[in-house]
Amino acid sequence: MVPKCPEIALSRHDEYGDFDIPYVHIRTYIFKKLNRYKNRIFPLICVENPVCFLVCYVCKNNPKIIVFIIYKFCLFILLQKINSVDKMNQKEMDMRTAVVDLFCGVGGLTCGLRKAGLKVVAGLDNDETCQYAYEKNNHAKFIHADVAKYASADINSLYKNSDIKILVGCAPCQTFSTQANKYRKNINKETDVRWNLLKAFANHIKAISPDIVSMENVPTLQNYDIFNEFKSTLEALGYHVSHQIVNCAKYGLPQRRRRLVLLASKFGDIKLLPPTSEYFKEKRTVRSTIGKLPKLKHGQTNKKDPLHRCAGLSDINLKRIQQSKPGGTWHDWDPVLLPNCYRKASGQSFTGVYGRMLWDEPSPTITTQFFSFGTGRYGHPTQDRALSLREGALLQTFPENYTFFQNEENMSIATISRHIGNAVPVDLGWIIGVSIKEHLDTVKKGKKAA
Ligand SMILES: C[S@@+](CC[C@H](N)C(=O)[O-])C[C@H]1O[C@@H](n2cnc3c(N)ncnc32)[C@H](O)[C@@H]1O
Repeated sequence: MVPKCPEIALSRHDEYGDFDIPYVHIRTYIFKKLNRYKNRIFPLICVENPVCFLVCYVCKNNPKIIVFIIYKFCLFILLQKINSVDKMNQKEMDMRTAVVDLFCGVGGLTCGLRKAGLKVVAGLDNDETCQYAYEKNNHAKFIHADVAKYASADINSLYKNSDIKILVGCAPCQTFSTQANKYRKNINKETDVRWNLLKAFANHIKAISPDIVSMENVPTLQNYDIFNEFKSTLEALGYHVSHQIVNCAKYGLPQRRRRLVLLASKFGDIKLLPPTSEYFKEKRTVRSTIGKLPKLKHGQTNKKDPLHRCAGLSDINLKRIQQSKPGGTWHDWDPVLLPNCYRKASGQSFTGVYGRMLWDEPSPTITTQFFSFGTGRYGHPTQDRALSLREGALLQTFPENYTFFQNEENMSIATISRHIGNAVPVDLGWIIGVSIKEHLDTVKKGKKAA
């Protein structure tokens, strides 16, 4: 059957009877192809008539131009074909790849993995107050459950028909944090429930056998046997494992958060992409992240954004922040403002609190207490107050429209701050996500080449 467009071409050929016959054949071939891609290059077909006339006119006495145009057409179609196959593969891969996020919280990690193009099907957390934010912002199912008690088979069923199963998790960090380290002798490893959550994670891996695993936690986790046990379990199961300490600021995040990230794959070597990768060129600071937000007084809430709300300051803390310099310490204060403990020689080194941030640097680690001037260097660079909840969320790289509660204005600052500070920064999740995707691409290319 002769396709439609060549019919037009043939009639035109009759009209311009002195055209070469091969030209008509080649056009027939091209238009057959064009028909297949007509949706994508419809606009080209629309302009075909006048263009064709023009080409015919110009080419009348110069067959070389005809060959050149045909060559360009064929090249265009070939590129379209290659592109569409690539897009199809990408789509297929994304569709068949599913992630389950253990200890999902309000979805920082999930949000970052989604930003990288991975499909997250569900998250599990035993804190029901995370459900709204998790589901509202991520379109993934929130399962209110204790990870240690939830059946591996039920987690496995969440993957449905996906071919590539990815299991990620960031167990509560407090157990392994520097603070807890001070009291490590007091931790009863057998009975501390949180201590055993990493074991529960490993047990799920044993039972589900996901293709890829990612685990994130505080760097000090490396000091504990439980981390080595986790790693050895994965290696014994045949995973290729890598882990490293990541300084988020080196990847361009507006925060100097250091985290331990472990990646494991059944397909082959897997590693977090280096900070020098093309992906991470943008370098953000406190100014570039929160510099344009409306001004606030301590204890105030912005009328348009209920999350741009900050804690009130006591009279003495207001005087203290007024005397604080960006990047300075309480050594800048009038001595009468010093708390008793800092007057003693033993208190002189506690300079990590009551500080103001610097505009043109990344912020310090956003913890669950970032709303409080006295608990870290959370003083605004120029305004006399600590960070607002919105500012904390932005420094944690949550998107501007991320909502944490349906009625944010009625929730306590401490509750929202806990959720924000507990989260894996969205862009750390994205770094993990793009690293996983690059790994899967390499595996796919390797398979094709073999
Ligand atoms: C570090 S936060 C995880 C943050 C989260 N991945 C994110 O990016 O937003 C740890 C989470 O583990 C949850 N959690 C603690 N014990 C749990 C348990 N036994 N089962 C399920 N979740 C638990 C906490 O409620 C908290 O949300």
